[in-house]
Amino acid sequence: MSGYKVPLSVTWVGGPKGHLRLIDQTLLPSRLEEIDLADVESVFEAIVSLRVRGAPAIGIAGAFGLLVGTREATSTDHFQEILKASAIRLNASRPTAVNLSWAIGRMLKHFGDSVSLLPFEQWQALLLEEASLIQTEDHEMCRAMGDHGQELIKDGFGVLTHCNAGGLATAAYGTALAVMYRAHEQGRNFRVFADETRPLLQGARLTAWELSKAGIPVTLICDNMAAQVMKEGKIQMVIVGADRIAANGDTANKIGTYGVACLAKAHNIPFYVAAPSSTFDLTLADGSGIPIEQRKSTEVSSFQGVQCAPADIDVYNPAFDVTTAELIRGIITEKGRIEPVTGANIARVLAGN
Ligand code: MRU
Repeated sequence: MSGYKVPLSVTWVGGPKGHLRLIDQTLLPSRLEEIDLADVESVFEAIVSLRVRGAPAIGIAGAFGLLVGTREATSTDHFQEILKASAIRLNASRPTAVNLSWAIGRMLKHFGDSVSLLPFEQWQALLLEEASLIQTEDHEMCRAMGDHGQELIKDGFGVLTHCNAGGLATAAYGTALAVMYRAHEQGRNFRVFADETRPLLQGARLTAWELSKAGIPVTLICDNMAAQVMKEGKIQMVIVGADRIAANGDTANKIGTYGVACLAKAHNIPFYVAAPSSTFDLTLADGSGIPIEQRKSTEVSSFQGVQCAPADIDVYNPAFDVTTAELIRGIITEKGRIEPVTGANIARVLAGN
């Protein structure tokens, strides 16, 4: 039986004029609290400050966020104005995860020249339907990724992961963690090594919390311990999530992922990525075009609010890095596994062949 026990990271409360409810992930693991958001600025702030985070969850929050904005609408023209402005604002919140612009684009696809054809209240109902569908589909894709990847985890394995690609980061269940939940449901015994994931500790705060709740054995390590743990023979595979995957398989994920992939190669350990089709950006030939979010210096010069470096020190704080396709053994998607990772295989699997 599944031990999966993570509450929904994103929920919609009420009808088309309802509001967004999120688990405030910045408070975990000490407090599990939800916040209610009823305007676009609050949704923008929640995404920027990582109250909601993880590529698919950001996409879902962005989709519902568009609807939140239209609560104020007084006419169809006004509705259309708000929608355009909200899309621009929300798209600017975080640049790397393509799921955000993908979800917003999908919400807007109904409009174009046809807005005036219906009263705006009907458009709001349609937006709610579409955002709910994006959420339901994401949940289904996560389950399917779990199914396609679970057999890779064998009894006795040590599995290393970086950041949080679990239920908190998606509609439910996760991407990389879905593979683990599914293997656990099959009765496989394995241990997860969770990188703490400096600077914001998504591995320590979120992955360690999620997996412990599910009863999956998990050992927390500092990021700089991964090489030693691999050398000691404790890791048999690596699975991580993704924020954007280019047409050739180059994959952006949380800063530090590229380093883990290099270490895995040096120790001859297979390195897998798990991601839904909504994380692929086939408009980019390779990873060089992926925008990398730069975050504020205090995330590095402080630790949980306590300054730990000289106040005026120069800091570099890219939130993501790109792992080149040749370092990736396979990509687990809801449509099946892409292995080896080549442009042709990506196109074939995403097309459903
Ligand atoms: O900055 P974050 O916490 O949003 O970064 C999240 C990650 O890098 C995840 O690994 C990725 O979004 C995949 S989540 C299924």
